[in-house]
Amino acid sequence: MQYPILPQQFHKRLINWQQSHGRHDLPWQQEPTPYRVLVSEIMLQQTQVATVIPYFNNWMQHFPTVEILAQASEDEVMQHWQGLGYYSRARNLRKAARFIMEHHHGKFPESLEELLAIPGVGRYTAGAITSFAYNRYGPIVDGNVKRLFCRFFAIDGIPGTTQVDKQLWQLAETFTPETNNRSFAQGLLDIGAMVCKPKNPACEQCCFRAECLALKQSRVQDLPTPKPKKVIPTKAGQFLWIESENKILLEKRAEDGIWGSLWCLPQIHLQPEQLGEHVQLKGSFRHTFTHYKLNANVWTIERLGEMEPRHQWIEKSEIFNLGLPTPIKKFLTRHLESR
Ligand code: ADE
Repeated sequence: MQYPILPQQFHKRLINWQQSHGRHDLPWQQEPTPYRVLVSEIMLQQTQVATVIPYFNNWMQHFPTVEILAQASEDEVMQHWQGLGYYSRARNLRKAARFIMEHHHGKFPESLEELLAIPGVGRYTAGAITSFAYNRYGPIVDGNVKRLFCRFFAIDGIPGTTQVDKQLWQLAETFTPETNNRSFAQGLLDIGAMVCKPKNPACEQCCFRAECLALKQSRVQDLPTPKPKKVIPTKAGQFLWIESENKILLEKRAEDGIWGSLWCLPQIHLQPEQLGEHVQLKGSFRHTFTHYKLNANVWTIERLGEMEPRHQWIEKSEIFNLGLPTPIKKFLTRHLESR
């Protein structure tokens, strides 16, 4: 491939841009230790910067070091992730902390290979730790970088497919400098978020406007190639409301599946008509997941035929100290207060 710009030019331009126009006040940029970089990068997967900031600050208050995180219970960790979604990230972060204690005595490893062995750490996160924490050569490709590169190099095909991602990672390896990696990596993310935006990119302000192939070919609006819109199915879910004096019956969900490790109203896998006649509809809620929409009903019943180990009576006053899925938390708030 004949590149539209030399890597050295690309580095210089982006690093200068980052230093004068990029972001410098994000909380994880202050004291970029590998632990703080890991936590922020995991939180920033699929979640916007503005949403992450208060969670990150709260997390660092409660779990200031990898050692403290490794010692925390799963429930405690889930409680501080509550509301961020994609809860496997929180469980992985705790596993990562325990792994680093066990295999590295609490000190983050430096090599890419050892970083990749940490639970929940993939190529992107390993590159981010190397760039941001160690200020060393560490290629990164996330959604921002994919969009920037697909436009700048006029790459056709859908990002996320093996064939396109392979090209993008190759470009990232070629175009990542050997020095100033902290500014460079932040520059890639910042220019993707602030200039080369998904909609209404500010091409006139871009430091790469003279070389951008998509701009040259008037294809900025058409690159990256959009994913075909998937139709997501709607599923019904039946939940139970069983209370007794000051307690309510909740279930701790299994690690896998939706809302893994969170506390939830007991879910049953029956049709509502199979519940019998003594049940009454308490209310309903909806929630959209990545892969489907959930239409949920909550049924009041007197008692559960068979309690299982995952079921537990919880004091109503204790409920909000648990990690709860956001729609369940809202439902509980509404229905516990209105009495
Ligand atoms: N998105 C992912 N990582 C980021 C970072 N370090 N700063 C800003 N946005 C990001």
